[in-house]
Amino acid sequence: MYGLVNRAVEQLLRTKFGDARWAAILARAKLTLPPVVVGMQAYPDAVTYRLVAAASDELEMPAAELFEAFGEYWMPYTAQHGYGDLLALGGSTFIDFLQNLDGLNAHVAASFPELRPPTFWCTDVTDRTVRLHYSSEREGLAPMVVGIVRGLGTMFATDVTIEQAASRAEGANHDEFQITYTLHT
Ligand code: HEM
Repeated sequence: MYGLVNRAVEQLLRTKFGDARWAAILARAKLTLPPVVVGMQAYPDAVTYRLVAAASDELEMPAAELFEAFGEYWMPYTAQHGYGDLLALGGSTFIDFLQNLDGLNAHVAASFPELRPPTFWCTDVTDRTVRLHYSSEREGLAPMVVGIVRGLGTMFATDVTIEQAASRAEGANHDEFQITYTLHT
């Protein structure tokens, strides 16, 4: 994955747990800076997975919890690191944005030529609920989607509850999330 992802992981962990813990995580992962921090270079996915696995050991937190926290952080992080205009192209309400995730990915791919993006689509859309489908060549990132969707709720001042309704880790063809949403009044 692009270094931007690893850099966001770094910033999240340093902000929440401090520089000393971050150094311990890097040592556990047997990674050294600066290779981790070049944002616009694509790295093997293993770098990201090793970082999160090392953080999980060091902080005694499940990797899924870290990926979820990372997902929630990813929206404000991209907005603050030069991709705010791109995010604005995704839609002006929570539900429009969810329905246009693949359209957004096409714009993101224009900035990241080596991007291998996941695919999203929505079914069963009502004015309060939606089923979000997520398909990726990568494993273990469904919690990140949960976090991103929560982050989008914050971005669009919308209350969101999200539950995993089908899981690839448990044999389903792809991950599905049942989402309930209401605009803050
Ligand atoms: C402007 C905003 C965004 C930017 C710049 C961006 C960029 C990226 C980049 C660079 C990666 C690493 C993938 C690779 O290197 O092949 C990635 C992965 C990912 N992105 Fe985005 N992204 C954005 C918004 C979103 C949104 C709104 C979602 C919504 C759910 C999303 C979901 C994901 C997921 C789940 C992954 C993990 C990879 C996978 O599942 O295979 N991203 N994104």
